Amino acid sequence: MRGFFLFVLLSTAVVASGATYPERSRRGMVVTQERHASHSGLSVLKAGGSAVDAAVATAFVLAVTHPAAGNIGGGGFLLHRSHEGRAVAYDFRETAPSQASPTMFLNAGQYDPIRHHSSHVAVGVPGTVAGLHLAWSQHGKLPWKSLVAPAIRLAKAGFVISPSLADSLARELPAMQAYPASLNQFSKSGKPYIAGEILRQTDLARSLERIAARGPKGFYEGETASLIIKEMERGGGIMTMADLRNYRAKARVPLSGSYRGHEILSMPPPSSGGVAIIESLNILEGWEFGPQDFGSARAIHQMAEALRRAFCDRAQFIGDPDSNPGMPIQTLISKDHATTLRHSISQAKASISSPATFVWSNESPQTTHVSIVDEEGNAVALTYTLEDSYGSRIVVPGAGFMLNNEMGDFNAEPGRTDSAGLIGTPPNLAAPNKRMLSSMSPTIVTKNGKLLLVTGSPGGRTIISTVLQTIMNTVDFAMNAQQAVDAPRFHHQWLPDQIAYESNGFSPDTLRILETMGHKTKEVRSQGAAQIIRVDPHSGWLEGASDRRDPDSAARGW
Ligand code: DON
Repeated sequence: MRGFFLFVLLSTAVVASGATYPERSRRGMVVTQERHASHSGLSVLKAGGSAVDAAVATAFVLAVTHPAAGNIGGGGFLLHRSHEGRAVAYDFRETAPSQASPTMFLNAGQYDPIRHHSSHVAVGVPGTVAGLHLAWSQHGKLPWKSLVAPAIRLAKAGFVISPSLADSLARELPAMQAYPASLNQFSKSGKPYIAGEILRQTDLARSLERIAARGPKGFYEGETASLIIKEMERGGGIMTMADLRNYRAKARVPLSGSYRGHEILSMPPPSSGGVAIIESLNILEGWEFGPQDFGSARAIHQMAEALRRAFCDRAQFIGDPDSNPGMPIQTLISKDHATTLRHSISQAKASISSPATFVWSNESPQTTHVSIVDEEGNAVALTYTLEDSYGSRIVVPGAGFMLNNEMGDFNAEPGRTDSAGLIGTPPNLAAPNKRMLSSMSPTIVTKNGKLLLVTGSPGGRTIISTVLQTIMNTVDFAMNAQQAVDAPRFHHQWLPDQIAYESNGFSPDTLRILETMGHKTKEVRSQGAAQIIRVDPHSGWLEGASDRRDPDSAARGW
């Protein structure tokens, strides 16, 4: 018996990328992409707030301190699991304005990528305020106002700009040139801020005060709504006051699957994340993986082939559930479907993604994820976004927040499929009040009814691969939370037909084996910014791991 434990310890040590340790705590944990946000979330937990209370405070703070993706002008998903095991998925994805149509991204009959991705027409009806409020109304313990307060304070008094925020703002200034309110908020009369200076956002503070006082009405009606619509009219957008007033967040049933005796809870459509992750795990369940297999050509091949198939199904079948009532979701996440797909995978050779009847459209990697566990063991996985980094780059004049460019997640044009990266399949064409397809994948894993993992990441379509790998790193490769986040990542999305891997992520030998098998490979700088919490099944302690790929990320435990 002692020999067995020694073996387990040694084999875990072998896979560990050196001894990296997570933040550890007993009573609560908040992990986000920005330290003020993590700190505020933890203060809410310490004040007796629930995981959802902490998520609300954290999300509003991120809208101030992480303006690339934190938002009130965008949308996202919040997955909640109570300590008794009840789970609900809050969908506050943006919707298309009521004047949207499948051909709205054409200009004089020609597809216009600017219209699709960076114009007033690219702005979806924001969902964040409605979604946070809905989750809070069902799981909140502290007053709403008190949860918006930390964000108001930081917007008003300002906060010190970190080196990475300074870099990111400087990079965005050219794209903000067309919008004086954006330049005004995020530069010094057009000159970039320098790290160490203070960023104050007084218009944003006032918008937050209206939200604190009136809840969603402080955003979807009254002054904030008028300011949004005024900017829409000025810039040729199609969103109306009625679109804002009619926006509703939805509570949905989470998607549920199993993997080697674990339960996987994830986001249903309009996210494709839950389907793709559960489908991939079902395929992978048919093979054995132990800690020693991490990073092996065999494991990478099998994972890439599983992802290739899940992404192929994603493109064909998934869109807004309310506009696509016949989606075969239960089939896609069934064990039978996975068995059929697994049999199509050779252990010796890469498959070929079938000649592109369609290829992916542009989807950017800028979003942010928050994982929280409170003292009772309630868990929140929250991923929300403006789509691109800083969304449309349009700050609403007088209201101080950035609008999303989420309409870019709809397909470009009906039936148009070309090698430049457009797809035209029906499930995800723009239509009035429809939600655009997403890859955001807030996910919670349990075993025998006990919480094991809360995970999620930004990264556009790479979110799906990143979240899959945090799950496998924990379940199959025996890593602690920090090792699971630090471990090198890769991505396959069916088309383009390639494995994208992080710099230095694969050894030259591994690359050679994969290429000999027929895989095309591509080096990328980095993938994702996962923020995860693992519960150590032996001690019950919480392990929080923030992603060092983003230097402002922070895990804070209590
Ligand atoms: O919803 C989606 O899948 C994309 N709009 C998310 C974009 C994204 O993740 C950018 N992230 N870093």
